[in-house]
Amino acid sequence: MKVAVKIDEIRQQVREWKQQGLTVGLVPTMGYLHEGHGSLIKKSVELCDKTVVSVFLNPTQFGPNEDLDSYPRDFESDKELCQSLGADLVFHPSVEEMYGEDASTYVEIVSEMPKQLCGKTRPIHFRGVCTVVSKLFNIVNPDKAFFGEKDAQQLAIIRKMVRDMSYGIEIVGCPIVREADGLAKSSRNTYLNEEERKASLCLSRAVKLGREMVEKGEESAEKVTSEMKNLINKEPLARIDYVQAVDGVTMLPVDTLKKGVLVAMAVYIGNTRLIDNFSVKE
Ligand code: PAJ
Repeated sequence: MKVAVKIDEIRQQVREWKQQGLTVGLVPTMGYLHEGHGSLIKKSVELCDKTVVSVFLNPTQFGPNEDLDSYPRDFESDKELCQSLGADLVFHPSVEEMYGEDASTYVEIVSEMPKQLCGKTRPIHFRGVCTVVSKLFNIVNPDKAFFGEKDAQQLAIIRKMVRDMSYGIEIVGCPIVREADGLAKSSRNTYLNEEERKASLCLSRAVKLGREMVEKGEESAEKVTSEMKNLINKEPLARIDYVQAVDGVTMLPVDTLKKGVLVAMAVYIGNTRLIDNFSVKE
């Protein structure tokens, strides 16, 4: 497995692979990799001849009061995981390599879509995500790119950007990977102390409750999200940012829970903001 820090190294390697007729998968990450990221890498290794994993803590998707500085990093362990799962190339650029001092171009969806859910409290977040993912697409030129359903709004936004900008890239969504007790795996889980770690289970419990209500035939978004909120509010360390049902493609609020609806939440446990969700299947 190779590690490259320069854009040109990536371009040259991918060009060689493409000349040999090989397909290329891209797994964009911000590092501190866990089994959630691992599931994306495995999927890419399974579906593509060559897999590129990018490890780049992208400053443009963090707001001024967010956790860019404290975000966990461990590139040595990231490399080991990538290698053990069969990745071929890790792209680990510096901020200077990705953004020149005078960088002044953004890729931004200007509809209501990025203003919903996480966009309400993170107004510049998805502009930063679209810009960096768009740059990674231009640098790597992959056939397929892999994203987790854990960040469901991000996945929907990337799909929309790919359609709008005519990227000839297939976006593959991968299911949420959870800890044994249900908590969705996240690099941010390391922020939780022992007490908060226990409290964090209210998210996956709310997902389970919501899903069960839907399976029993409940179609009212209001009823399901209020029951989920009640469950979360019983946890003293939890503070709800949102629990909401939205259309799975447009991210706009819906009243009725039918196939394709996303029920998503963001909850603060202490100072740590965690997200979780489920999609209505039938
Ligand atoms: P990051 O949070 O590192 O996540 C990288 C990818 O891993 C995302 O597609 C995310 O949805 C997926 N992922 C994280 N936890 C997961 C879990 N428990 N189960 C399944 N997939 C999971 O998301 C980002 O980085 C950035 O916004 C990025 C797209 C790299 C742009 O900077």
